Amino acid sequence: MSSINGLGREGPAPVVEDEITSFFGSAPPLKDSEKIFEKLNRFIELNSSPQGGDGGERRIVCVTSGGTTVPLEQRCVRYIDNFSSGNRGAASTEYFVKAGYAVIFLYRRGTCQPYCRSLPDDPFLECFEFPDGSDIQVRSSHSEAVKRAVRDQQAAVAESRLLKLPFTNIFEYLQTLQLIGTALKDLGPDAMFYLAAAVSDFYVPWNSMTEHKIQSGAGPLDIRLAQVPKMLWVLRTKWAPSAFCISFKLETDSKILLEKAGMALRKYKVHAVVANELLTRKEEVVVVSTDGNVLVRRDTDKPGSDVEDPLIRLIMDRHSAYIKESHT
Ligand code: PMT
Repeated sequence: MSSINGLGREGPAPVVEDEITSFFGSAPPLKDSEKIFEKLNRFIELNSSPQGGDGGERRIVCVTSGGTTVPLEQRCVRYIDNFSSGNRGAASTEYFVKAGYAVIFLYRRGTCQPYCRSLPDDPFLECFEFPDGSDIQVRSSHSEAVKRAVRDQQAAVAESRLLKLPFTNIFEYLQTLQLIGTALKDLGPDAMFYLAAAVSDFYVPWNSMTEHKIQSGAGPLDIRLAQVPKMLWVLRTKWAPSAFCISFKLETDSKILLEKAGMALRKYKVHAVVANELLTRKEEVVVVSTDGNVLVRRDTDKPGSDVEDPLIRLIMDRHSAYIKESHT
């Protein structure tokens, strides 16, 4: 048992506990972990003290977004990736901020960012021009979208409503999630985890990984991948047991989606599981909870509307009910 993991006597079954201890014990140290912890505590303090921000206490949500990578070499040249554009996390963050939440956005480097969804893929190259050789300026076709993105993002950061923390690989993701979980523990039910990231299920343990680039001349490659322990369990039981917790379930086969979401709900005792299918994930999701299943759809009558708009409203209502219940 290791104190770094915050595991205690009543932790998960021994086999799972061993997997967790071995995962963290063999992971490379998280770069700048002290700075991240300081940033986190400052952000939480600003948002949970009545003097901070706009003068009131805010609820804080940790939104995870994008996919984790699994390096195959310590000096990584090759890696296994997980599919996620980061759109769900970025859009959800915008709606949470709009609703008054402070958001810790734990995102994969290079994926979709809040307030940038309407910008072209390469904003610097596409959004600006030098008309007649004069100074650089925003192209008129993009000017509204750029102004809105810059204004909204800067306002969210200036008002301490948005803290962005990046990750690339599975080690950085889980180590940072652990720091966030521990830092949010004291907020009890006012904190929320909204786990939209696509997290690797298999990895190469750091200490059994080759240091240098794997040589192709050695012929076909056999790699044995270990199972990444489901950290949802530790989050729910140890890191932040009173926080409101929403996890996600992605499947490509609609026939098994709701069953798998229901299984995850019961197994990890989260408050709801957002079930989505790969092809329709931007149109609809099903929120699975012990109160039953709710289908949430994008408003197709409103051009440019997002499924995250009604989804975040529903999640907020559930969170409010949970806070109320926890205080009675
Ligand atoms: O980013 P987009 O392109 O917009 O797509 C959004 C999305 C489809 C990625 C998102 O809506 C989504 O469904 N994310 C979860 C994807 C997934 O593959 O989940 P999973 O079945 O691997 O994991 C289920 C839950 O367990 C997740 O909440 C995850 O945080 C958690 N998990 C997973 C693995 C692991 N080792 N530990 C975990 O705790």
